[in-house]
Amino acid sequence: MNSFDTKLHTMTLSEDGSYTAYSKEYDEHYHSTKDGALHESLVKHVVPAFKMMKNKAEITILDICFGLGFNTLATLYYVKQNFPDFKINIYSPELDADLVKSLNEFTYPKEFDEFKEIISGLIENGVYDDDSWHVEIFLGDAREYIKKFPTTSSI
Ligand SMILES: C[S@@+](CC[C@H](N)C(=O)[O-])C[C@H]1O[C@@H](n2cnc3c(N)ncnc32)[C@H](O)[C@@H]1O
Repeated sequence: MNSFDTKLHTMTLSEDGSYTAYSKEYDEHYHSTKDGALHESLVKHVVPAFKMMKNKAEITILDICFGLGFNTLATLYYVKQNFPDFKINIYSPELDADLVKSLNEFTYPKEFDEFKEIISGLIENGVYDDDSWHVEIFLGDAREYIKKFPTTSSI
């Protein structure tokens, strides 16, 4: 058994060579195994979102829900390659604290190798912060979290 595998999750190889998780609780994979976890995050979520974000030097993102963190990490990967001067703030609620704790054992794609420090910071402290990036996980119910999350007009 892979050391990531928990009571509620197993790690599954997806078609693009990246791993995703299968949830025994929800009886489904976290990503499309056919499209691939990394491919799905980049092509379905990150790239389309950034097409709408022209002429902004600072972006604040609500990533519902963190899960394995692919959308957050794929965002940082894409930003580093395409908009290295952007300031990025990502806020992400996640109900499953045991899942977040187990992410040290998850096999991420090599594209995320450079984010090991960020992943560890999020697992240990729930936050990562440097001059360019601020990432926070809120362990709890997203439905409560969004009631307090500031709208773009007030950020
Ligand atoms: C499909 S996964 C998210 C995958 C994630 N986007 C990724 O890239 O890894 C859905 C996640 O939502 C979380 N979740 C479900 N209901 C929630 C809630 N009410 N509040 C916060 N998280 C919730 C689950 O624990 C699960 O980790």
